[in-house]
Amino acid sequence: MAPTFHRSFVCLFFLHGVSMAASTPHVLIYSATEPETPILSPSMPRKDRTLFTDGNLSQYDALVFLSNTGEVLDDTGKDALQNYLNLGGNFVGIHSATDCLNTTELYGKEIGAYFDYHPEIQNATINVVDASHPSTSMLPAQWQIRDEMYNFKSDPRNVGAVVLLSADESSYTDDGERKYDQGSPHPTAWYQEQGAGVQDGGTPGRSFYTSLGHLNETWHDETFMAHIMGGIQWALDANTTRAFNSSASVGNGDASAAETTSSSAPEASQS
Ligand SMILES: *[C@@H]1O[C@H](CO)[C@@H](O)[C@H](O)[C@H]1NC(C)=O
Ligand SMILES: *[C@@H]1O[C@H](CO)[C@@H](O)[C@H](O)[C@H]1NC(C)=O
Ligand SMILES: *[C@@H]1O[C@H](CO)[C@@H](O)[C@H](O)[C@H]1NC(C)=O
Ligand SMILES: *[C@@H]1O[C@H](CO)[C@@H](O)[C@H](O)[C@H]1NC(C)=O
Ligand SMILES: *[C@@H]1O[C@H](CO)[C@@H](O)[C@H](O)[C@H]1NC(C)=O
Ligand SMILES: *[C@@H]1O[C@H](CO)[C@@H](O)[C@H](O)[C@H]1NC(C)=O
Repeated sequence: MAPTFHRSFVCLFFLHGVSMAASTPHVLIYSATEPETPILSPSMPRKDRTLFTDGNLSQYDALVFLSNTGEVLDDTGKDALQNYLNLGGNFVGIHSATDCLNTTELYGKEIGAYFDYHPEIQNATINVVDASHPSTSMLPAQWQIRDEMYNFKSDPRNVGAVVLLSADESSYTDDGERKYDQGSPHPTAWYQEQGAGVQDGGTPGRSFYTSLGHLNETWHDETFMAHIMGGIQWALDANTTRAFNSSASVGNGDASAAETTSSSAPEASQS
């Protein structure tokens, strides 16, 4: 289900190419899986989840949960995630990020729905349901891809999500048993203007999720990358974090942190 190419706690210095940007947003990419993928980095200490503290998360303008599986946060980490979302933090989930933290209500609401199952990977057609969004505006109306077509345990529209992409079920084979109602059209990517994981009284940031991105080669595809980067940029443009909002409580890095060396390219610094 999860691709096997990553396991890291990575800082991405997202370059906002627009002059209105107050300053450079900082994005955290969290790609932990449980159980860990042993072939990747057998010697790497398992400490990613201990970095989920209020102080650490408060540096970031968005958190990207990338292809996670299983119980990737402990209770301290879940509390820090809740606090981060309450303070205006933005959220992005990619691929199997809907298949982790499956009993954590705040996470399920913030990402929109939980993964149920997928048929074997195959070619499929994705229909662009809403082309007005920065993650979809560049896509062909009928996007031919090779990926896992996820089914979900609930309809993300139930928490207020707007569906952007829909799997064309006539374009691929799925012999699995549907036990849940995921709504129609078949949700494949969606956004929430106000992430539903925020608690009452909090400042909701934005949430974006796409179920695509299983294969390595997909991550070398310019169209797919435009979809991903459009989703991340849109989430950041909530203006609820310090990069774009001087009165915000989270985001925009920490001048005293060693890893904030600026970089013109995404920098993968594993910690
Ligand atoms: C994907 O890429 C990673 C890193 O290059 C490699 O280790 C892995 O084997 C690749 N996975 C597949 C399924 O090709
Ligand atoms: C970040 O997490 C590490 C590991 O738990 C911790 O030692 C450090 O104090 C945290 N930093 C902040 C600013 O919270
Ligand atoms: C959550 O996922 C675990 C595997 O990580 C599984 O054993 C458990 O049954 C799942 N629980 C629910 C409520 O889906
Ligand atoms: C699936 O699509 C790829 C192009 O994305 C194509 O090269 C391949 O032949 C297709 N496979 C099948 C079984 O149609
Ligand atoms: C964020 O700020 C920009 C620049 O002022 C504005 O164009 C945009 O509409 C704002 N977004 C939101 C969600 O308020
Ligand atoms: C800026 O941040 C403050 C404090 O979190 C929040 O109340 C306000 O709504 C934010 N502004 C925007 C445009 O979201």
